[in-house]
Amino acid sequence: MRRPILAANWKMHLTRPEARDFVADFLPRVADASAAEIVIAPPYPLLGCVGQCLAGTAVSLAAQNVHPAERGAFTGEVAVAMLVELGCRYVIVGHSERRALFGESDAFVASKAAALLSHGLLPIVCVGETLEDRESGRTFDVLGAQIDGSLAEVPGERAAEIVVAYEPVWAIGTGRTATPEIAQQTHAFVRERLRERFGGAGDRIRIQYGGSVKPENIGVLMSQPDIDGALVGGASLEPASFAKIVHFESQEGSQ
Ligand code: PGA
Repeated sequence: MRRPILAANWKMHLTRPEARDFVADFLPRVADASAAEIVIAPPYPLLGCVGQCLAGTAVSLAAQNVHPAERGAFTGEVAVAMLVELGCRYVIVGHSERRALFGESDAFVASKAAALLSHGLLPIVCVGETLEDRESGRTFDVLGAQIDGSLAEVPGERAAEIVVAYEPVWAIGTGRTATPEIAQQTHAFVRERLRERFGGAGDRIRIQYGGSVKPENIGVLMSQPDIDGALVGGASLEPASFAKIVHFESQEGSQ
């Protein structure tokens, strides 16, 4: 039984007052949502403030990135221990925007995931194919390579703790969601690859879907057997919208 995990990826959005207002509005809306795990990933400068607002609640704090080194001359970067101090539980690594815009490789993502696990934090490892990959029939090759490369340093005994987010690049921020059938088919491939790599632990790893998730499509996505949650960008910036996503049960079958 995998507990659903719904995560808000705020990307480079919201000011401090906006973030405070979000949390004040959002928390009462999800007070009864104990079946699902809820995660919010604000930009780095808001981690302290949002972390304080979430303290003592069931909502977990996440960062959107990290550097794998313990410390050192890495101007502009943030180490794992700093995120631990701020109260983070999860960290998104390998998001397609970081892979595409900042040139992050699978090996770099793998070193981040390993550094996080060694400090007690949990990586949300993102994978996903581009439209060109999908149209040329290379989706499973690309995803297989990303999974193998990005999870190369995850020790088998810790595998069940990580989260994998499947986010087709062509669905991110485009309003174009994968159909439930395409999403499930691809999640099933990811699940099989995780089983090959980690054995039975592969069945316990939660796989989120990401890419234009909204209140209208979360129910049907979550009803797929291998979709265990969602990583939500645009629709996570409004408290009412993200709260509806967290309450996906009541929307099952709607699209
Ligand atoms: P989106 O972003 O929900 O705005 O498509 C998802 C993501 O990039 O994680």
